[in-house]
Amino acid sequence: MISSALLAGYHTTALTIMWTMHALTRHPSAYETVREEIDSRLEGRPPTLADLDALPYLKKAINETFRLYTLAPFMSRELPTATHFPAPLSATLPKGTTVLIPASTLHTAASQWRGTDPDTFDMNREPPSDPLAFAPFGYGARACPAERFARAEVGLVVVRLLQRFEWTADDVGVVERVERFVVMAKGDIKVRVMPRAA
Ligand code: HEM
Repeated sequence: MISSALLAGYHTTALTIMWTMHALTRHPSAYETVREEIDSRLEGRPPTLADLDALPYLKKAINETFRLYTLAPFMSRELPTATHFPAPLSATLPKGTTVLIPASTLHTAASQWRGTDPDTFDMNREPPSDPLAFAPFGYGARACPAERFARAEVGLVVVRLLQRFEWTADDVGVVERVERFVVMAKGDIKVRVMPRAA
């Protein structure tokens, strides 16, 4: 349990922080919106857990990051009983079949996400038609037990990074991804980081 918590607990949050900063530097108006919200709420002091609830744009930016940079693109479940799947599959799969749930596909399915192109980062995005189409932490009894902890860690660190430094993208190319237990960048993501004036 300790080793799985360490394995599941380190790369996941570190990569989410990385992908959030990447998404914000690539979307300067979202970056400004989130930073202004943080500056006006906190006036430079370090954030507390209670502050995170009062930063709705930060939450939207992190949720868009979870949606577009899904760390666990697939989950799997073994069917406990023979189960009928309606159209388009229209088939009954036997008990014990392993079913893959493609979270990253659901996260950008045009049938689920109204408004702007689901492949784009949009801070004003509405929730999906079916709530099950957004599952960065999984489902049900086997869902990630650390969602609250992970969201708090990511939120607190991103706030501090935005309070203390200016971030700009130094590279506008496509960042290729690779899956190694979780989805990470294939190469470097280049950004400029400067201390913010006091
Ligand atoms: C942004 C951070 C994280 C994301 C996106 C994430 C996502 C996930 C997902 C998708 C699953 C599989 C859920 C399913 O199959 O329904 C999972 C399972 C798990 N996660 Fe996380 N996780 C994160 C952080 C953490 C942290 C910080 C810890 C521990 C400190 C942790 C511990 C675990 C464990 C132990 C499981 C296995 C649960 C089980 O099989 O019953 N995760 N996580």
